[in-house]
Amino acid sequence: MKLGVLTVSDKGSKGEREDLSGKLIVEIIKAELKVDSSEYKIVPDELQEIAGALVDFADVKNCQLIVTTGGTGLGLRDVTPEATLQVVDRIVPGIPERIRRVSLEKTPNAMLSRAVCGTRGKSLIINLPGSPQAVRECLEVVLPVMEHALELLEKGSLECASRRNQSETKKGVRDV
Ligand code: MTE
Repeated sequence: MKLGVLTVSDKGSKGEREDLSGKLIVEIIKAELKVDSSEYKIVPDELQEIAGALVDFADVKNCQLIVTTGGTGLGLRDVTPEATLQVVDRIVPGIPERIRRVSLEKTPNAMLSRAVCGTRGKSLIINLPGSPQAVRECLEVVLPVMEHALELLEKGSLECASRRNQSETKKGVRDV
């Protein structure tokens, strides 16, 4: 699997803040999924730059999983969800729904993330909030279904029912 990590941060893009969250995403996903290679980019909170980087990751670099961090809140420059919605061809509401539901048990501020998720061709794009702690908490929620999600996207269809017990037991989905 090829991973794309896009950090969205005005300060980070100017070198005024170290991008801990982007590095953490690569580290966590590499520990949990089979990652053959990865792409990384940091862009300011500019809609066209974010959308352009997502299209490049999906269409040119062929990243199957693209994770963004930052720019999902209510700040006037937070436009990562809008840029994502501009480039996806289908939305996947269940992922951000579940992330917010689980995150709300940790912090009421989870209400303030407008993160979205969708597919562009065979790529899955997931928005995460910007802080390293949020990245850790949100990835914990989505990782158990990632292998299945990426397999579905790659192969077009699968016998989900027959694989259910096996993958849920292995990944501990029932315990989340
Ligand atoms: N979700 C989790 N799991 N943990 C967090 O610490 N922080 C929240 C929220 N979601 C948080 C979280 C906060 S404080 C904000 S403002 C929003 O995500 C948006 O974050 P962003 O603007 O960095 O994308």
